[in-house]
Amino acid sequence: QYCFKMTSKFLFEGIWLDSRFTPLENLCFARNEFLVKDNDVILVSYPRSGTHWMIEILCLIYYKGEPSWVQSVPNYIRSPWIENNHFQEYIKKQDGSRLMTSHLPVHLFPKSYFTSNAKIIYIIRNPRDVVTSWYHLVKGELRWKQPKRFDEILDDFVQGELAYGSWFDHVLGWIKRREMGSFLLIFYEELQKDVRGSVEKICQFLGKKLKPHEIDSVLQNSSFSAMKENKMSNYSTPDNHITRVFTSPMLRKGISGDWKNHFTVAQSEAFDKLFQEKMSGLDAALFPWS
Ligand code: A3P
Repeated sequence: QYCFKMTSKFLFEGIWLDSRFTPLENLCFARNEFLVKDNDVILVSYPRSGTHWMIEILCLIYYKGEPSWVQSVPNYIRSPWIENNHFQEYIKKQDGSRLMTSHLPVHLFPKSYFTSNAKIIYIIRNPRDVVTSWYHLVKGELRWKQPKRFDEILDDFVQGELAYGSWFDHVLGWIKRREMGSFLLIFYEELQKDVRGSVEKICQFLGKKLKPHEIDSVLQNSSFSAMKENKMSNYSTPDNHITRVFTSPMLRKGISGDWKNHFTVAQSEAFDKLFQEKMSGLDAALFPWS
């Protein structure tokens, strides 16, 4: 009945993964065989943190705001997930500074990355909105006899039993890489507050110089409404692996703070306590939400 009891879930080095997206053989290839190159750019996130938004922004930056790529090739091919099905096939389509995505925690990442100079962009979102977004995505999976309740998903999230494990461990593991260079930390909330400033920061990190009108086009074509309408960004291509599993849209509301419509006061207080305990080693001012 619960997510972690479903047959497609498996535990790998302490992390729950879903074989529908990450078959064991793909994971082993990603970790042990895939060669990360110095000029690769890898977007990393915990699921439901704004990954697809960032894919769109990056693809548009690569094309200086020109939308032909984002309008003709599905997002999961433009920036393929390292650990997922078809990665080897999709990554062959790229050369030069390759763009790829991953939800893997740092200890499951390709070993070759740790001796490379590849750039990592790590996006973080308020975990309360992450779990809210996740709830809406998985609640209506066809295989559930009854729709999932929010408290069930919240419980799984808190226990680290959703795919890719604990949000806290994911963030704590990756955030340490800040000190190593070639690492950009960005928050979903920062994008919401100042998307132009965030895009300029990303351009600077990538060494890309875009003119103001090119940035305008990046912003326009990566907006929630543009992505929602773009068949290459909203998972309405016939061959995609997502809508075979999820019936809810990947692009839902695209706002910050919707968690307030889902958490009870008791859940919110318990979550605050857990957050403080788990993240006590980090400066609370780092996180742009209250
Ligand atoms: P909501 O469910 O809260 O709407 P991911 O891509 O990591 O799976 O994250 C999905 C979340 O990012 C969803 O959140 C989705 O709506 C939101 N999102 C996607 N594109 C966006 C955009 N252009 N602007 C704002 N939010 C966006």
